[in-house]
Amino acid sequence: MLESRTQEYVEQRVRAGVLEQGTVDLLTESGVGARLHREGLVHHGIELRFNCAGHRIDFADLAGGKGITIYAQHEVLKDLAAARRAVGGALFYTAEAVSVHDVESAPTIRFEHGGKTETLECDFIAGCDGFHGICRGAIPANALCIHERVYPFGWLGILAEVAPASDELIYSYHQRGFALLSMRSPQISRLYLQCDPEEDIANWPDDRIWVELRTRFQTHDGWHLADGPIVQKGITPMRSFVAEPMRHGNLFLLGDAAHIVPPTGAKGLNLAVADVRVLTSGLVDFYKHGRRERLDRYSHTCLRRVWKVQRFSWWMTSMLHRFPNEDSFQHHLHLAELDYVTSSRAASQSLAENYVGLPFEDEAKK
Ligand code: DHB
Repeated sequence: MLESRTQEYVEQRVRAGVLEQGTVDLLTESGVGARLHREGLVHHGIELRFNCAGHRIDFADLAGGKGITIYAQHEVLKDLAAARRAVGGALFYTAEAVSVHDVESAPTIRFEHGGKTETLECDFIAGCDGFHGICRGAIPANALCIHERVYPFGWLGILAEVAPASDELIYSYHQRGFALLSMRSPQISRLYLQCDPEEDIANWPDDRIWVELRTRFQTHDGWHLADGPIVQKGITPMRSFVAEPMRHGNLFLLGDAAHIVPPTGAKGLNLAVADVRVLTSGLVDFYKHGRRERLDRYSHTCLRRVWKVQRFSWWMTSMLHRFPNEDSFQHHLHLAELDYVTSSRAASQSLAENYVGLPFEDEAKK
């Protein structure tokens, strides 16, 4: 395991926080679920808010009892690192991978660690190095097909030391733009506002953020959003991106190295974990039984899920955000879609089954 950052950095950096049922199940089966089950917050629904009223999507009823768990990504990373250390596995932090070689035969990774350049000889490389990492670039350009969409907005996200104003997540569509209420713990709220992707965070003093959040979450029944100290804030651009295939020789791309989803619906981390699940079953098949078929099918198997999750994330994003120059016709289409999704059992069930996580290929009927 080569990680360019320090262990402290990856174990403190606030990132995603919503785990699908299947992600929780996989972590549990892998023996790293104990703290997650103690500290994670299990939710069985979300709220969609529009026209100053909330509408609950009830997962318990609509998604066969599945739910989601709020547990921060950096806490998952702590648990994974501890489990790896417990079995004496190597973890190299502050190890910057410089280049990968011979991925079609016997791959190697050159990396810098402790002031020296080292070479790691591999059977396979799991390229989990994110959108800006070097692994995707190691695949010849003529072997890769890129599909991409950039959205004309971003999210301004804050972490605040205040109890979440709702027990469940609230996705709010408002004429001034989307807003999301989430959380990291019973004491820490995570909130987002749709903003211009080029927005300068310096234009958003804390007071302005709270006023805008209260406007976008306003209800007819006087729901109140309490504020608290903002301990972190930042702006995230939004894009959809898929590189295919996700394997070249013995190099596999996982997570953001292969695909990016816009954050609405919280799929990024879960999709990365789904890739890990597919690769792991292929590696087990290879090392236990000498069979390569699952590894050879890796890209095909992953991409089926990737595209369904891309569709869902794009759909949630399109439904809940204001696009530049929207007219009253488009505004009414947003409202009609939200009204439909929250009043039709078929439509709300479709949202719920995607939100808690689609079944894995090995569970679903082929
Ligand atoms: C969070 C992020 C999301 O994109 C989302 O849809 C729900 C929650 C979060 O960071 O808590």
